[in-house]
Amino acid sequence: MAAVQFDQVDVAFGRHVVLRQLQFDVPEGAFVGVIGPNGAGKTTMIRLVLGLLRPNSGSVTVLGQPAGRGGRQIGYVPQSFAAEPDLPLRARDLVGLGLDGEKWGFALPTKDRRRRIDACLERVGALGYAEEAVGTLSGGERQRLLIAQALLTSPRILLLDEPLANLDIRSGHDIIRLISEIASETRITVLFVAHDVNPLLGVLDQVLYIAQGRAVLGSVEQVVRSEVLSELYGQPVEVVRVQGRILVFAGDEMVPLGHEELLPHGRPRSLPAEP
Ligand SMILES: Nc1ncnc2c1ncn2[C@@H]1O[C@H](COP(=O)(O)OP(=O)(O)O)[C@@H](O)[C@H]1O
Ligand SMILES: [Mg+2]
Repeated sequence: MAAVQFDQVDVAFGRHVVLRQLQFDVPEGAFVGVIGPNGAGKTTMIRLVLGLLRPNSGSVTVLGQPAGRGGRQIGYVPQSFAAEPDLPLRARDLVGLGLDGEKWGFALPTKDRRRRIDACLERVGALGYAEEAVGTLSGGERQRLLIAQALLTSPRILLLDEPLANLDIRSGHDIIRLISEIASETRITVLFVAHDVNPLLGVLDQVLYIAQGRAVLGSVEQVVRSEVLSELYGQPVEVVRVQGRILVFAGDEMVPLGHEELLPHGRPRSLPAEP
């Protein structure tokens, strides 16, 4: 059975068509990197899987059921948040929020609850700061807590929306290694949203590339190629491999996609002027 199936999915907000004719099956147990430029529709795709948004047409099926059923089967790590240093919330309590609300529908006995939270804190390497205030933790530490929270219900699918945003390179690599270990231990299906494929190259099974409202799923070799991405973007795209890294250039000025950090800060996405 496929973990996630999109069948001819269209999404529009008013007259703004965001996703068109999305058609793909994510196999159970796959580690999928969801890659695409800002505004491509990655978060919209995640919201469809969560059942928070219904397509205008087509269908989204999760573990054989229409999206929106079986919330406990899905762990969700939202885009990271800023917390005030004096926010009166301990790390442990943030993780515990994953057991509240409608997910369980019944209260877990205190002892079981604590044991489950501890196990998840331990799994992400966060036991050492379980009692600290969330606002005093680093971005990487906070990201681990969100992952622990998402794992509380032992989900079969884990959705992570740009977990690397705002992390330095080393913390980002640590998060990728953690998710990859969890994935191989549990055979959980992972949809990991990122704007650059490179950090994920060593761990992903498939890439779901989203651009111009359309998507293509396959291995990196199948998808991240000039012909395939030119077709997807509807304009010439060059894929260049340099020292094990993949650079994708698109647009009139052939700006490297997913590498906005290479451009001068605060500049629009065009090539810097010659000095
Ligand atoms: N609720 C909404 N109402 C109107 N437009 C939306 C809404 N959600 C997303 N969009 C638009 O849909 C497009 C895709 O957004 P999003 O899925 O957040 O992209 P990504 O996560 O890839 O950056 C953007 O143009 C965004 O402005
Ligand atoms: Mg997004």
